[in-house]
Amino acid sequence: MDILVVGNGGREHAIIKKLIESPLCGKVYAAKGNAGIGKIAELVDIDPCDIKGIVKFVNEHKNIELTVVAPDDPLALGLVDELEKAGHRAFGPTAAAAVIEASKCFSKQMMKDYNIPTASAESFDDFEEALKYVKGQEYPLVIKADGLALGKGVVICEDFESAKTALKDMMIGGAFGKAGSKVVIEEFLVGKEVSVLTFTDGKTICPMVSSCDHKRALDGDKGLNTGGMGTIAPAPFYTAELQSEVMQNILLPTVKAMNELGRTFKGVLYFGLIVTDKGVKVIEYNARFGDPETQVVLPLLKSDLIEIFEAIIDERLSEVKIEWSDRAAVCVMLCSGGYPKNYEKGKVVSIGKVKENVTLYHSGTKISDGATVTNGGRVIGVTAVSESLSKARDDAYEAVKAVNFDKMHYRKDIGDKYIKG
Ligand code: AMP
Ligand code: GLY
Repeated sequence: MDILVVGNGGREHAIIKKLIESPLCGKVYAAKGNAGIGKIAELVDIDPCDIKGIVKFVNEHKNIELTVVAPDDPLALGLVDELEKAGHRAFGPTAAAAVIEASKCFSKQMMKDYNIPTASAESFDDFEEALKYVKGQEYPLVIKADGLALGKGVVICEDFESAKTALKDMMIGGAFGKAGSKVVIEEFLVGKEVSVLTFTDGKTICPMVSSCDHKRALDGDKGLNTGGMGTIAPAPFYTAELQSEVMQNILLPTVKAMNELGRTFKGVLYFGLIVTDKGVKVIEYNARFGDPETQVVLPLLKSDLIEIFEAIIDERLSEVKIEWSDRAAVCVMLCSGGYPKNYEKGKVVSIGKVKENVTLYHSGTKISDGATVTNGGRVIGVTAVSESLSKARDDAYEAVKAVNFDKMHYRKDIGDKYIKG
């Protein structure tokens, strides 16, 4: 079958690479993809958020039997709803379900109402009220923009002054546009973070192998929050015992809550978790595959991804056996100088040969005058799959040497804290 994948990044590159391994896969289109995706799919010059444009493209290409919507924004804008209305098959949650990521006020309230463990929190849409509240709180305190903010809408405040600045920036200064006009203010949790991506059709929920993101820009978890500087899978500390606690206390109650709220979630539901000494708690939900978690998780999937997507759409996920490799994967993200703040685009990327167990997932690249050039903050994710995390890390860093562009920067310690124990 022919498939359209909506999205531009490393996550979409990893999804497409997996789709084309399937014997069911025909031609793959990507809207709008990037230089790396262009090597394995036909690029379509339509923006992922151009809902009308995408629906029109699928209407005009009768051969497309499945559209996979990967990024948060088009999901929140209702691309899946619009495709379904036009009679097409689409993979991803409806806008009503994607709100679990698109509004942190919504997901906090849901967790409160359904006793799903999370940081205690209050929501505010009035600056003065929020300011009054943070005055009486213990620090550190976490302030989050309600809406979608490219993983950057979270500020960890050490004292009242920095909380005031964060609230001002979000609620008055419009640092995240409309996404920051409402905020969630929550207690700071201490523990190890783990990302658990799941497949769900609203009836069955199947966790993928666990992974860990490295969100801060600099080595030693210093610097600003980013979309993710690197990942590992699986998370060595995420034991079978923790997995069963999470299934009972978090995964199943979330599916039930969404059903009862009339927002049945079908797609990939991502649980950002933290293992505290008072149990595992939810830090955030995403309504989609994570980036760069996908670049370490999907390479470990042994089953057919098209079969899984089809089963989810048809609500028969319980019939599918999903198998995972027992190997490990490490992804090192190569970024533009300056990211996550301002950076330049258009730097020529030189790419040499890498070993067979390494994949270069393109995040922010495009072709310009026949050359691959940088086109985003996160440029290429270098993923190695090997028999152990330490071997995968060594192979990934060896392969990093094959890629170069002006002002390239990356973390040198991806995986270290998990490998050293
Ligand atoms: P989020 O976008 O909600 O995943 O937040 C980004 C990052 O901020 C998380 O991965 C955590 O490292 C950190 N963070 C968010 N909420 C909390 C919290 N309540 N306590 C401690 N750290 C947090
Ligand atoms: N890497 C975290 C995310 O995709 O939101």
